[in-house]
Amino acid sequence: MNTNLIELSDKQATAARLAEYELICFPANPWSADMVLGTLMTGFAYLVETEYGYALGRVSYEIAELLILGIFPEHRGKGMGKALLAEFIAETKRKHYTVPLEKIFLEAMADNTAALRLYTSAGFTEIYRRKDYYAVGSDGVIMELGL
Ligand SMILES: CC(C)(COP(=O)(O)OP(=O)(O)OC[C@H]1O[C@@H](n2cnc3c(N)ncnc32)[C@H](O)[C@@H]1OP(=O)(O)O)[C@@H](O)C(=O)NCCC(=O)NCCS
Repeated sequence: MNTNLIELSDKQATAARLAEYELICFPANPWSADMVLGTLMTGFAYLVETEYGYALGRVSYEIAELLILGIFPEHRGKGMGKALLAEFIAETKRKHYTVPLEKIFLEAMADNTAALRLYTSAGFTEIYRRKDYYAVGSDGVIMELGL
């Protein structure tokens, strides 16, 4: 896998590029360039970007969050999500700001079978369910991975 860790020096260009990826991977509810930029501006965001997909994370003290993970449609179902998630976890472990990282949190839609399988097989476990978070009948599943 050709993995490039992007230096977030050009945040506006990065945000515009990710907004395009969002339209491809999450056509029903994409993050806009402004939403991505707001996250990048915190200074604690990090991005793993490959030719197959991308993962955006953020660190807050001892907790990291996986905010977005998308594999481009033509590359799905071939183990690329697994590889990208492994790279995201490895990159997270390299982060150290004020205190050592202890956990990664993420949230997925309860009916996103592929995502839940991907995260479960990487060792994430469900810790909370937000009822009707995305829409009536569409819960949010919050998962964590200990580092
Ligand atoms: C979810 C997503 C990242 C998975 O990526 P992928 O490259 O297709 O996944 P992989 O091929 O690495 O497979 C990972 C696991 O998911 C399972 N899986 C993949 N696609 C699946 C599908 N359509 N239905 C059920 N399980 C699926 C695989 O069998 C594998 O499970 P295993 O570890 O138990 O063998 C990808 O489908 C995607 O980008 N979807 C749109 C964006 C999205 O929903 N992102 C997650 C937001 S929380």
